[in-house]
Amino acid sequence: MSTVKITREAPIAVVQLDRPEVLNALSEELMDELVAALETLDDETDIRCIVLTGNEKAFAAGADIKQSFVDATPASMLEQDLTTRWERVRKIRKPIIAAVSGYCLGGGCELAMTCDIIVASETAQFGQPEVNLGIIPGAGGTQRLTRAIGKYRAMDIILTGRRVKADEAKAIGLAAQVYPAASWLEDAKALARTIAEKPPIAVRLATEAIDLAWNSTLDAGLEFERKAFYLLFSTEDKKEGVDAFVNKRKAVFKGK
Ligand code: COA
Repeated sequence: MSTVKITREAPIAVVQLDRPEVLNALSEELMDELVAALETLDDETDIRCIVLTGNEKAFAAGADIKQSFVDATPASMLEQDLTTRWERVRKIRKPIIAAVSGYCLGGGCELAMTCDIIVASETAQFGQPEVNLGIIPGAGGTQRLTRAIGKYRAMDIILTGRRVKADEAKAIGLAAQVYPAASWLEDAKALARTIAEKPPIAVRLATEAIDLAWNSTLDAGLEFERKAFYLLFSTEDKKEGVDAFVNKRKAVFKGK
């Protein structure tokens, strides 16, 4: 792969977007390689949590404007079938933490929001600046940002195209944590290791249940939660977790 790097540190893996010369602009090749990298890791049983990151200067500065937008027509945009790749990112079963440093704009911000958790270096700058190009977010930005931070804040950010710094991103609920610039990636990896130690089936079902809260009615979400809760009582990891608590020892979860 030439635009994405995978580093395995089981039980976690780091996927790094790697087009630094264009601030990790999301070319078609990069999106293809990203999907392939994530799907590969999703199938590896010793990997339990994935950190998706860029470099210090940029998580990603959005769609590759020069490649994708200059001569684009509605038909050519349809032909590129961008949505399929984004859907495949969304369908990864393992938790993905977006570790953001520097620019996280446009499609970059949408990619971070497609992940399960966003954490930020204090240098992070989020934004949906598409309006400055005469377009709007096209990979979920109007929907995911609004669900994450509410209508009026999303309007402010999307209609002005302004940048949102790390502290504001945390205050409005976009970033879960802000880490020091000196240690942001290590801190994100530590978070990933904490999640990787938890029982994988419970982590997966909790993730699906939380996603349903975005995507369905309260009743449907509660119904899913109730069934998932009961299902977990059939797992070895539930026996292990409860036994470890009762016997005052550390649980070791197997994902069974
Ligand atoms: N697509 C393609 N190329 C991009 C890009 C993008 N989204 N964002 C940055 N680049 C390229 C620049 O063209 C430049 O290439 P060059 O050296 O060949 O001219 C290189 O990355 C560095 O960017 P530059 O603009 O010189 O860096 P900067 O630090 O001055 O500004 C940004 C950084 C992020 C503010 C600015 O690059 C920017 O506004 N990018 C576009 C953001 C955007 O609108 N994203 C939404 C797209 S839908």
